[in-house]
Amino acid sequence: MRLRPANPDDLDALVRLEEFFPSDRLSRTRFRYLLRHGHAEIRVCERGGAIAGNAVVLYRRGAKIARLYSLVVHPDHQRRGIARALLRAVEATAVARGCREMRLEVRPKNMPAIHFYQKSGYRITGKIKNFYADGREAFKMDKPLVTKKELNVPSRSPRRPAPGAPCPIP
Ligand SMILES: CC(C)(COP(=O)(O)OP(=O)(O)OC[C@H]1O[C@@H](n2cnc3c(N)ncnc32)[C@H](O)[C@@H]1OP(=O)(O)O)[C@@H](O)C(=O)NCCC(=O)NCCS
Repeated sequence: MRLRPANPDDLDALVRLEEFFPSDRLSRTRFRYLLRHGHAEIRVCERGGAIAGNAVVLYRRGAKIARLYSLVVHPDHQRRGIARALLRAVEATAVARGCREMRLEVRPKNMPAIHFYQKSGYRITGKIKNFYADGREAFKMDKPLVTKKELNVPSRSPRRPAPGAPCPIP
């Protein structure tokens, strides 16, 4: 399995993979646009010389929240850890770009995806009515990307200095 950023030569393979997405598929035009613009990351996973899966993340300038826009793995290659590897890779990019959180939307009926995201540390935080083209609602899911430790937030209050001891410099 090899992960790499997508390039314009991958366009056909990316569009073919969308067939395995439940609905609201990304069009060729949309992929072409996303491949050209810096506000998106498209990462693909190659397996046996073919593209077996991809993840698309959108960024907004200055925002600390990244949005997982699409994640799909070809049915012949599912349950081999490809989605897990793709998600970890795009989460790492989001952290490197200064994001603190990853968000996504998923159909409430898409139990395989919900299970996958929950196993990957995401939690359901709400619903969005009338989200999909067919008028159905979406679950909102998110995951903090930076731990308290990484933010240097102490896990408990610092000990009070002993009486007479010099005050620590903050
Ligand atoms: C959801 C999807 C991306 C998972 O891809 P995958 O490469 O098969 O997932 P992984 O192999 O990395 O799975 C990691 C873990 O997620 C969970 N998981 C993945 N697929 C699952 C399924 N069908 N049912 C239940 N749990 C599942 C498991 O805990 C799995 O670990 P395990 O195999 O050791 O038990 C894939 O099923 C898919 O492409 N579905 C169609 C597109 C889609 O719905 N995308 C998400 C839309 S928001």
